[in-house]
Amino acid sequence: MDLFTAIQERKSVRAYLDKPVSRVLIEKVFTCAGSAPSAINLQPWEFVATHGEEKDRLVRRLKAAHRERRVSCGPGTESPLPQKYTERGRRALTVMEPAVGRLNIAFNRFIEEGSCSFYGAPVAVIVTIDRLFPAIRYLDVGLSVAYLMLAAHAEGLATCPIGLILEYAEDISATLNISEDKRILLGISMGYEDPASPANQFHTDREELAEILTWYE
Ligand SMILES: Cc1cc2nc3c(=O)[nH]c(=O)nc-3n(C[C@H](O)[C@H](O)[C@H](O)COP(=O)(O)O)c2cc1C
Repeated sequence: MDLFTAIQERKSVRAYLDKPVSRVLIEKVFTCAGSAPSAINLQPWEFVATHGEEKDRLVRRLKAAHRERRVSCGPGTESPLPQKYTERGRRALTVMEPAVGRLNIAFNRFIEEGSCSFYGAPVAVIVTIDRLFPAIRYLDVGLSVAYLMLAAHAEGLATCPIGLILEYAEDISATLNISEDKRILLGISMGYEDPASPANQFHTDREELAEILTWYE
């Protein structure tokens, strides 16, 4: 698949077919993730891929943690966001809520419980970085994650980045034996999209180029 097509087509997928993903394919997309550029070629990204019983164990633990603590999705900032950002979030909700509403489940519940269960995807990925790295190196990991999601899409696999579960990072580390010197940055669901699910029947929009690009000439 052409790179521009993959970029244009990729979207976060929140309902998956009950169809396993071959290990060969999983390794192929992680090999692409590992080809991302990084400062001094340090390649600070690390991934844990779970499926089968291990993924189910992780999901059980996350759901239990969520039942106890009920953390909801938020921007993760300490002060309220300026209006242009809240407006972007509001616009995303405008397309997401009617689609999710067709599942007859409250929107927040769908996102929170769905995130904790990797939206039923057969593969759940945890992205980590060594704690000794400064925050600027998270950028390198982000590049790798973008490579991963685009490569997955080009191979017919869908993904959804999941940040909500970071609230339960200790539970994830305990379940997967992730050592204390690793910081968990993101979860990612991966599998084959269920194209019939209302949860996948919308597209978020993006700002016009002039909003994000400033020219000096
Ligand atoms: C760092 C990060 C964290 C995210 N966390 C969640 C999450 O916890 N649950 C969820 O359903 N989607 C999550 N998303 C997906 C975003 O909602 C999605 O990327 C955004 O609405 C744009 O839509 P698109 O990915 O379909 O283009 C996250 C995305 C990123 C990049």
